[in-house]
Amino acid sequence: MSGAQGFEILVDGRPVPVEPGQTLGAALHAAGIRTWRTTRFGGRPRGLFCGIGVCFDCLITVNGTANLRACLTEAHPGDEVTTS
Ligand code: FES
Repeated sequence: MSGAQGFEILVDGRPVPVEPGQTLGAALHAAGIRTWRTTRFGGRPRGLFCGIGVCFDCLITVNGTANLRACLTEAHPGDEVTTS
């Protein structure tokens, strides 16, 4: 245990707890959120797949910046995530 304080981010306006150093993908997964976008064709749900920055399935919008990889993007206090 690091002793560092956890914090919250907002996901579509809903508070989600985050441990210091967690990626957005890890925080969403820990909160039970498994998908946060859909494919352009077919509307299939997508979230974490490879978890290492290769597949781009986990693209997410953070603080208005689209197409960030949730598996590589560290969460910060006050981050506002929007799903599609
Ligand atoms: S889960 Fe594959 S790039 Fe993020």
